[in-house]
This record gives sequence, C-alpha cells and structure tokens, in this order.
Amino acid sequence: MVATSLTDTRTGYGLVSRTLHWGMALLFVWQFTTVFLSAVAEDTAVERFFWGTHYSVGFTLWALVLARGAWGLSQIRHRPRHEGPRLLARAATLGHLALYVLMVVVPSLAILRAANNGRGFSVYGNQLVAPGGAANPSLTAPANLLHGFLGWTLFALIAGHIAMALWHGLVRRDATLRHMTRGPQRGPRSLRSF
Ligand code: HEM
Repeated sequence: MVATSLTDTRTGYGLVSRTLHWGMALLFVWQFTTVFLSAVAEDTAVERFFWGTHYSVGFTLWALVLARGAWGLSQIRHRPRHEGPRLLARAATLGHLALYVLMVVVPSLAILRAANNGRGFSVYGNQLVAPGGAANPSLTAPANLLHGFLGWTLFALIAGHIAMALWHGLVRRDATLRHMTRGPQRGPRSLRSF
C-alpha cells in the first residue's frame, strides 16, 4: 500500500523519511569533504572546486533539515521506538535531538553571516543577497565565533551516530539499522495500525 510505504510505522521508516535520511547523509559526506580538503589541500584545484560548493550544499542541507524536522514531527506518533536498555534509549533520544539542533544551527548561523556581511550571497549561481550593503557585525559575529566549532561538533556527533547504528546492526543485531535501510516490515505485524 502506498500510504504505508511513504509514511513511518513502528516497524520501520517509510520512503519519505528514508530518502531524506540517506539523501542528507550523502550531502553531509560532500559537505565535510569540502572542509577536510580546505584543511589539508588548501589552494589546490580540487579544494577550490569542492569549497566552491560549500555554501550551496550547506544551504540545501539547511532547507532539507527543516523539511525533515517538519516531516518527523508529523510522523512522531508512529515512528520506531529506540531499542535496548532504557538508559541507552534515552541517550539515543538526546543524541538525535542534539543532531537536529546542530543540523539547524550550523547552517543557519552561516546563512545569517553570509546575508549580512556585505559581500552578497549566492546559491547555485542565484544571487539571494546582492553585494555592497553595509555589514552588520551583530549578525556576522555568531557564525565567526561558532560556525566552524559547531560544524566539527556536528561531525563528531555524526561519527558517533554511525558507530551506534553499526553496533545495533552488527553487534546487538536488533532492528534499529533495518528500520532505516529496509523500512517497514511486511507481514501481520506491519498490518497493525499504530
Ligand atoms: C550543515 C551545513 C554545514 C556544515 C556541516 C558546515 C561545516 C563547516 C565547518 C566544519 C567549517 C570549519 C572549517 C575549518 O575548520 O576550516 C565551516 C566553515 C565555513 N563555512 Fe560551513 N558548514 C555548513 C554550511 C555552511 C553554509 C550554508 C555556509 C554559507 C552560507 C557556510 C560557510 C562557511 C564559511 C564561510 C566557513 C569558513 C569560516 C568559518 O569557519 O566560519 N557553511 N563549515
């Protein structure tokens, strides 16, 4: 049934959640490649190419996380529950909350800075803010202070998230990883309404 495959159930994430999750995962790989290259291969052609996409891919991630948050809230009553001991499940909830907060805050601060530093702001070649306006230091300072630091914090959290997902799938062998790879389970259990 289309309705079940698009939306989430207690037995797995539907197509919309899985597309947003794995699509954003690929974009994060790209986005962190841009910052790794700027750290290790500064001023090379490959670094200039990747860094040239940092604003546009970051902006895309920002738009997607807002869509994903809204979709997640609409599905919150029938999503899979965290598996494992209560303390671990609570840690997973907190970890996911921190991921969402950083996925919103990191690009938001940078966009605020880019729109208010007087240099203009383009996304995929489309000028969203024209250059030449006066810089507003109170709107650029938060990103100057925190964008890079929180960006690396987000990287560390994503690494922890991947490690825990693999632990669930390979060591604990519960359904956690399968919820996001294969989606809702077919069979009598998936026919129940949650
Ligand atoms: C989720 C999306 C984003 C992530 C994960 C991210 C991550 C990062 C990280 C980790 C750094 C630090 C690099 C270093 O230490 O050298 C950085 C720097 C930077 N980012 Fe982003 N970024 C994102 C979105 C954006 C967006 C949307 C913009 C512009 C509108 C932007 C503009 C910049 C700039 C100008 C720098 C260099 C100055 C600084 O460190 O603040 N980023 N980004």
